Amino acid sequence: MNHYFEIKDLKLSFKTYEGKKRVLDIEHLAFNKGEAYGLIGESGAGKTVLALTILKLLATPPALVESGQILFNGEDLLSKSENDMRLIRGKKISMIFQDPMSTLNPVFTVGEQLRQVIQHNRGVTKKEAHRMALETIDLVKLPDAKNLINKYPHELSGGQRQRIIIAIALSCGAELLIADEPTRNLDVTIQAGILKLIAELQRDLKVSVLFIANNPGLVSAVCNSVAILHQGKIVEKGTVREVLRQPVHPYTAALLSAIPRNKHEKIDLKKLMASGEAAGNGGCSYYSQCLKRQHKCQQTSPALQLINGSHFAACHLGVERSELNECSSLASKIS
Ligand SMILES: Nc1ncnc2c1ncn2[C@@H]1O[C@H](COP(=O)(O)OP(=O)(O)OP(=O)(O)O)[C@@H](O)[C@H]1O
Ligand SMILES: [Mg+2]
Repeated sequence: MNHYFEIKDLKLSFKTYEGKKRVLDIEHLAFNKGEAYGLIGESGAGKTVLALTILKLLATPPALVESGQILFNGEDLLSKSENDMRLIRGKKISMIFQDPMSTLNPVFTVGEQLRQVIQHNRGVTKKEAHRMALETIDLVKLPDAKNLINKYPHELSGGQRQRIIIAIALSCGAELLIADEPTRNLDVTIQAGILKLIAELQRDLKVSVLFIANNPGLVSAVCNSVAILHQGKIVEKGTVREVLRQPVHPYTAALLSAIPRNKHEKIDLKKLMASGEAAGNGGCSYYSQCLKRQHKCQQTSPALQLINGSHFAACHLGVERSELNECSSLASKIS
């Protein structure tokens, strides 16, 4: 089956003074047009590196793609030239960068910044770009666009700035939006507004979204499917219901347990992660922190294994769970 977006066997390293450092090792990740796909992982997991690799925005070297394909509408982005990528960035795939403050230029009004992007990508007149800029501000549900367009970034609140960044990302008709932690550094109520906006844009404009976050709660508000990234590897993936309601990988379980269920709950760190030595070569990357580690995890780390439906996990516990599922489905067929 051909997917709208698909990553196959992507291996990426950085050249460092200490040698080559593997940062991404993604076996498989795919989603369909119009879908909102979540990517969750702790700080340093490789989320931003992956987003930048999709848009070919990493400097090579130090980054080095060792193998793999990133297929978008059936075409491999990794084999595209810089000229081809210029026609894709903004027009087909857009990105909301992690740090909203550094995305906007402080010396231009938001209107000038929107107009420049629209004129550059769509080749329209200044007047037409101005009209389209006003329309895009309406699209991200910011009131009084005519007044707002003349303001400088520092005159806007954090939430307003983030909406302008989303407006810029969508201003050239991109069909895939990569949102790299778009609500980081925003307070909870503003966060909720931005999440609602992204969900509405995805539904109304049929934009596909790759939504990156370190908090599973944010992903479940926007996405249908999700992948969990740990040290550059996808350790679990499936629908939000499968992965976040019935996690198999202890890392996913730990991420979920780190969210307090009410304001009185105190998180017991001992129940969140173990401590110990890292596994050897070929062993599981989560071994040292895993509360359910077994002796075999030190030597081998299974590839993503089908658990049930579209639920996959790369864990020996998953292998056991999928064998159990197979037995029970066989038993139900017999009885
Ligand atoms: N230019 C570089 N050279 C060497 N290593 C790098 C370089 N850029 C990123 N890395 C490493 O790649 C890994 C992944 O970084 P990345 O920024 O993708 O993490 P992240 O998951 O986005 O984290 P956060 O949630 O904090 O944004 C980190 O270990 C980082 O140190
Ligand atoms: Mg990041």
